[in-house]
Amino acid sequence: MKLFFENLLRAVLYILGFIFLWLTMARILRKFLHFPAPAFLGHFLDSDLRRKIQPPDQLIQRSGIKPGQRVLEIGCGSGAFTTYVARAVGPDGVVEALDIQPDMLAQLKKKLSLPENSDLQNIYLHKASAYELPFEDESLDLAYMITVLAEIPDQEKALAEVNRVLRPGGILAVSEFFPDPDYPLSKTTARRGKEAGFEVEGVYGNLWTYTVRFKKPGTRRPTAR
Ligand SMILES: C[S@@+](CC[C@H](N)C(=O)[O-])C[C@H]1O[C@@H](n2cnc3c(N)ncnc32)[C@H](O)[C@@H]1O
Repeated sequence: MKLFFENLLRAVLYILGFIFLWLTMARILRKFLHFPAPAFLGHFLDSDLRRKIQPPDQLIQRSGIKPGQRVLEIGCGSGAFTTYVARAVGPDGVVEALDIQPDMLAQLKKKLSLPENSDLQNIYLHKASAYELPFEDESLDLAYMITVLAEIPDQEKALAEVNRVLRPGGILAVSEFFPDPDYPLSKTTARRGKEAGFEVEGVYGNLWTYTVRFKKPGTRRPTAR
């Protein structure tokens, strides 16, 4: 019995050591090499295991996503959360799902063609960069990014674009997840948003997975559709 626990402890320490080493190496590499998360990771990102750790309902609630909103998802990837958000905004709302990589969008498109998603008619896909959002000034109620912002080399430029397309009083929700090699602390994310002219509405979650919800200053008014 003692031997069993010794071996178990050793195995746990090996696994923790491996994770620590992998994250350290990945973070050092990311300081020099900037590239978007490869599209072959799409299947891993869009998994039930991930959604157990980052439950969509929790992300939706922390982000302030509500029925009827016109919402922008920057860096939607393979769409791990897109369908959940589309159902949360409902038939009167819209999700503009945007990514820089066509292969990620192709995975989301395939997912949307499945019978279980045939009810969703409110998702529009855009191949574009966060640096040049294909939307009019002040035309969106809310923008969200899940494990995306820290991956963008010029975050100041991307946040200025988000500021441009959000209506006054609009929401920006930034969620991060610790295993991501680009993971920043929530106070770093909060500082970046404030420097871009947003007010912090709330910080939710924990060290492992969190959402910082920002508000664009100004009085909330519904967008014209
Ligand atoms: C780590 S993945 C996360 C995908 C998805 N948000 C999720 O949580 O499953 C980051 C995504 O951001 C996208 N991305 C990176 N830089 C971008 C940019 N400048 N503009 C738009 N999308 C970008 C990548 O192509 C990738 O799909």
